[in-house]
Amino acid sequence: MRVETVEQFTKLVSEVEALDGYRRPAAFGVGLATFALTDLDRPTVLGADAAVLDTWYPAPNLDENFGTAAILSRVVGQRAGSASYRLDAAQLDEVLSAFAPFENDGKRHANLIVLKQLRDTLRRREQQLELYARGMTTLDRVLPRAVVVTFLGDLQDKPVDAHDAYLRLHLLSTRKVKPHGQNLDGLFGKLSNVVWTNVGPYAPEGFEGVRGLLKSQGVDVHVHSVDKFPRMTDYVIPTGVRVADADRVRLGAHLAEGTTVMHEGFVNFNGGTLGKSMVEGRISAGVVVDDGSDVGGGASIMGTLSGGGAVVVRIGKNSLLGANAGCGIPLGDNCTIEAGLYITAGSKVLLADKRVVKARELSGQNDLLFRRNSLTGAIEVVHKKNETVLNPELHKN
Ligand SMILES: CC(C)(COP(=O)(O)OP(=O)(O)OC[C@H]1O[C@@H](n2cnc3c(N)ncnc32)[C@H](O)[C@@H]1OP(=O)(O)O)[C@@H](O)C(=O)NCCC(=O)NCCS
Repeated sequence: MRVETVEQFTKLVSEVEALDGYRRPAAFGVGLATFALTDLDRPTVLGADAAVLDTWYPAPNLDENFGTAAILSRVVGQRAGSASYRLDAAQLDEVLSAFAPFENDGKRHANLIVLKQLRDTLRRREQQLELYARGMTTLDRVLPRAVVVTFLGDLQDKPVDAHDAYLRLHLLSTRKVKPHGQNLDGLFGKLSNVVWTNVGPYAPEGFEGVRGLLKSQGVDVHVHSVDKFPRMTDYVIPTGVRVADADRVRLGAHLAEGTTVMHEGFVNFNGGTLGKSMVEGRISAGVVVDDGSDVGGGASIMGTLSGGGAVVVRIGKNSLLGANAGCGIPLGDNCTIEAGLYITAGSKVLLADKRVVKARELSGQNDLLFRRNSLTGAIEVVHKKNETVLNPELHKN
């Protein structure tokens, strides 16, 4: 069907959306995926069951652009649920032809830009393959890559494959989804271990052969890491953040506007900041730090499962973890942990009225100052407003 007017586009979208069983996706994205080399003698061949090493989504969509989703669904035969499909150049052209009415309309259409750029990527790839066959270009220019479209039926469904997992990580780092805002069960198992280099991702198996081949072609190879997650900044740069050392922030980190991650800072996936923060310590997976709170140099925040329980550790607003401090309980607003003091959930804490409680009983309370008495060695809590109220819910236990 030729689409020349916005009305025709809208009609086409309505037809797709009226198809039996069609459901609008909760999220979707068009991306560029890299696959493992399966045969070093034929490195350009994309093996049918080659492992997915990464997928980059330049413009992930969440609960939006349903027209684009419908056009893409039509081309690949998607109806509902979560799934990923490879798109060849002809399919990309077919998709792009439906967007003709939006060309040069003076507006910025992020998906349209991505689709065009990725179609150009495929075209250029064809040229590179010819050059490679004649020994005139290098392996890193012709890695097995494919354009994919990924649909997530519902954010509360588990990730179904690596493309799906990557889309969820992009949704976090682009701040479309907050930490804990989607189901990441089994995400780890969907990701491959990857050798992340300055010239692309590679499978660890057989990497020395790849390194040798690249070097023989005159390519300098620097390995950044061997890990399941790449650096966030190679895929997403959120607005208004400073990241002093890109290696310290994994894709899937959620950095709010106004966040600075210094060299000692680290932010894992599905964790991060919700407002302005200075991060000079470690934010583990699943941990969130609220607006105005600082994580001091070398400080550590325990992961989502603290003390063996299912407690999500979060730091409230305007709180401070001192240098080399540690926190294993959810902290409320306006709290301070003294430099060097590690509060675990089970730590016994002396209150001002001489009662002793476990730190977990102080979870989420505001205006607390935790310090280790330098004379007695006891951990003390001082209420900054002179009264320490125990969390009644937790105190019951
Ligand atoms: C815990 C902390 C907040 C206390 O700082 P503060 O509120 O300014 O308190 P002060 O150092 O002025 O101390 C107030 C009083 O408590 C006493 N005190 C402080 N820490 C104490 C401790 N660990 N044990 C016993 N007494 C202590 C002081 O001696 C002082 O006593 P005084 O009233 O008799 O003079 C501070 O020591 C700290 O660790 N800050 C973290 C800073 C940081 O690491 N930032 C990140 C940088 S990357």
